Amino acid sequence: MNILVLGSKGQLGTALSKLFLKENIKFKGFDLPEFNIIDKNVLTSTSEKIKPDIIINACAFTDVYRAETEFDKAMEINGISLKYLVYLCNIKDIFLCHISTDYVFDGYKTKPYLEEDTTNPINCYGLTKDVGEKIIQNYCQHYAIVRTAALYGDNKNRTENIVDKIITSARSNKSISLVEDEFTSPTYTNDLAYQIYLIIKNDLQGIIHSTSEGKCNWVEFGKYIFQLLKLNVEIENVKSRNFSKSLKKPLYSVLENTRLKTSKINFMPHWKQSIKKYLIDKKYIF
Ligand SMILES: NC(=O)c1ccc[n+]([C@@H]2O[C@H](COP(=O)([O-])OP(=O)(O)OC[C@H]3O[C@@H](n4cnc5c(N)ncnc54)[C@H](OP(=O)(O)O)[C@@H]3O)[C@@H](O)[C@H]2O)c1
Repeated sequence: MNILVLGSKGQLGTALSKLFLKENIKFKGFDLPEFNIIDKNVLTSTSEKIKPDIIINACAFTDVYRAETEFDKAMEINGISLKYLVYLCNIKDIFLCHISTDYVFDGYKTKPYLEEDTTNPINCYGLTKDVGEKIIQNYCQHYAIVRTAALYGDNKNRTENIVDKIITSARSNKSISLVEDEFTSPTYTNDLAYQIYLIIKNDLQGIIHSTSEGKCNWVEFGKYIFQLLKLNVEIENVKSRNFSKSLKKPLYSVLENTRLKTSKINFMPHWKQSIKKYLIDKKYIF
């Protein structure tokens, strides 16, 4: 295996890089500013230099709020630029493992989404990711689209992820507002990285859901974190529509890892097990 990781400084890219180093797997990672996925020449020269047989595309415009006001830029990075990436993969016989999101769904279901369910994004970020998926599905010869949700993990820029932000805010204010009507499956990037490794190793293709097992809302997630940290915090339950006024979010975006299970390579732990592991890894608890 010779792997090219795009978006290697982000949360998932960092976890993939750490895993491949540990497992002694040949890989190279690229990210902004030296690598910009919308630049065809950079994409070609990077691929020519590395000669990968697998490309993992973990780079994306991931700020869901900014995607509303910077729609063209988000669409270029998450959607349109994939045309050329797909072309490159086809002519060079490269397996493209692309990362997508639960936000391609509208959240109106009450049971976990299956891989074959129809997408229907309700915000700009979701739409740009859906366009990216469609380009790959329609034109790529050898691909996996890995849909995941609510990621947390380290990144090379050392900015706080959602878990760190919840903890920082709770510690400084002793109270916190958390959303009670958005249900998802928070997923640790270290788990997802290992799951992606199993997907490419087993050459599993098509659309693949890959999130932690179980589901929770942000109040339940926060409560469990505070319980593990033994933090006494007052939680104010808020509604999604009041918390993120400028942005419509899917209220239920739980994904069923059906393809992983039927292929017998489902590694994803329960979200409670994963958050505990993260808090230990980050030395929040011992
Ligand atoms: N985060 C989540 O909760 C979540 C949930 C579901 C699915 N996903 C998907 O999972 C994947 C990984 O997410 P993540 O949380 O690891 O994201 P992330 O931490 O934001 O990492 C994305 C990386 O891509 C880089 N990037 C942005 N624009 C680029 C461009 N034009 N060319 C090259 N690199 C570029 C970013 O650089 P800058 O930081 O400098 O912009 C960042 O280093 C993405 O496809 C995302 O859509 C994420």
